[in-house]
Amino acid sequence: MLSDEIDRGHNVMAQSAGNLKAFRGSLVDIAKVVDQPQDIDQQVRSVEDGLLIVKDGKIEFAGEYQQGKLLLADDVLVHDYRGKLIVPGFIDAHIHYPQLEMIGAHGEQLLEWLNTYTFPTERKYGDKEYATAMAKLFLDQLFRNGTTTALVFCSVHPESVDALFEQAENFNMRVIAGKVMMDRNAPDYLLDTPESSYSDSKALIEKWHKKGRALYAITPRFAPTSTPEQLELAGRLREEYPDTYLHTHLSENLNEIAWVKELFPEQNGYLDVYDHYKLVGERSVFAHGVHLEDHEFCCMGDKGAAIAFCPTSNLYLGSGLFKLHKTWQYNVRVGMGTDIGAGTSFNMLQTLNEAYKVCQLQGKKLSAFESFYHATLGGARSLYLEDKLGNFDQGKEADFVVMDPAATSLQQLRWENSKSLAEKLFVLMTIGDDRNIYRTYVDGKLAFQK
Ligand code: GUN
Ligand code: ZN
Repeated sequence: MLSDEIDRGHNVMAQSAGNLKAFRGSLVDIAKVVDQPQDIDQQVRSVEDGLLIVKDGKIEFAGEYQQGKLLLADDVLVHDYRGKLIVPGFIDAHIHYPQLEMIGAHGEQLLEWLNTYTFPTERKYGDKEYATAMAKLFLDQLFRNGTTTALVFCSVHPESVDALFEQAENFNMRVIAGKVMMDRNAPDYLLDTPESSYSDSKALIEKWHKKGRALYAITPRFAPTSTPEQLELAGRLREEYPDTYLHTHLSENLNEIAWVKELFPEQNGYLDVYDHYKLVGERSVFAHGVHLEDHEFCCMGDKGAAIAFCPTSNLYLGSGLFKLHKTWQYNVRVGMGTDIGAGTSFNMLQTLNEAYKVCQLQGKKLSAFESFYHATLGGARSLYLEDKLGNFDQGKEADFVVMDPAATSLQQLRWENSKSLAEKLFVLMTIGDDRNIYRTYVDGKLAFQK
């Protein structure tokens, strides 16, 4: 029945003058980027009986069904998702694809966890065939969790990067990824050199950056696994390719921070190491930042850098409580990261659930609308993609999720007795998970159906 519906959709499209698709359901998105969390409420757009029209992978119309249907020829099939929520695709601002197979590794904090579990696992990704199989699984996990854009760590092997981009290309997915650069303090079998990391990254940039919707991130793992020479060359790549990304880890764990101080005694703290090598700026995304000091938040805000807040990971590795409120204070861009495999769920609802608790433990409130903002438009802003992604403005890329807010009897009960949209979304992010992801569309095309 369902696949029949999808097939008919394609047939109708083929007969239509334009490549039009239409989706009826409750639309929820956020209209604008804001400076303060209390301003988000006024920017929430909610259309109970809405219509989303997609043309050639872009949003053509989002609004009232009664208004939108006038734009459609009689023969255009309207996918009927009444009773469901249609929201912008979720944005995962920090995740490791080679680590999906080691999620839930027991008992260690960051540095021991890397040595015990992570490095031996990442070794396997030098095998292109293996990496390809895992990249397929990885994308499937993203889509079944409603995530349509991700900033991804691959492994040190260029093959792992090719494998991921090739699979993402099949969906014309907006994926941002890069080869890990690491030339010290890890097992020999995972090390590159400053020169090889530079030339391999350069070749991958030339091959993949801006190919379709793919984008490249220069990816030094973190300061302890790069020599000054390698960081210098990462900075040179940034200069040569100023519209690529810089993706790394920062101030996640207290032992890690102490180690960085030992390794780089001449620098004034962890962020300053990256800053010294010209790695802090627009399109620089730093995972964690759990223990950042105020002057570091200030520097990141001034330079337009972003933090990926990874609550499930920070709790799981015992790293600490991220100070989300400081990002508003210092105007630092923020995205939500699952940080698989230190994070414990691919699911953005579950990630927001844990984010709420991280804030609660610091006596701070995280509203449903703010959470939803970080996972969509705010996440897009953290990646400098807010002109392309994050809401249903006309012309934006048609990545969206159809959510079933009542996938279980408990959810249905709670949904029905919720009085406002804020309450409904809050309950969804608290008790929701992958069971609520009903359909995921990437580039206007169905990528996952329950
Ligand atoms: N710091 C350096 N590498 C990693 C990693 O793979 N995961 C996390 N969470 N932190 C890191
Ligand atoms: Zn990470």
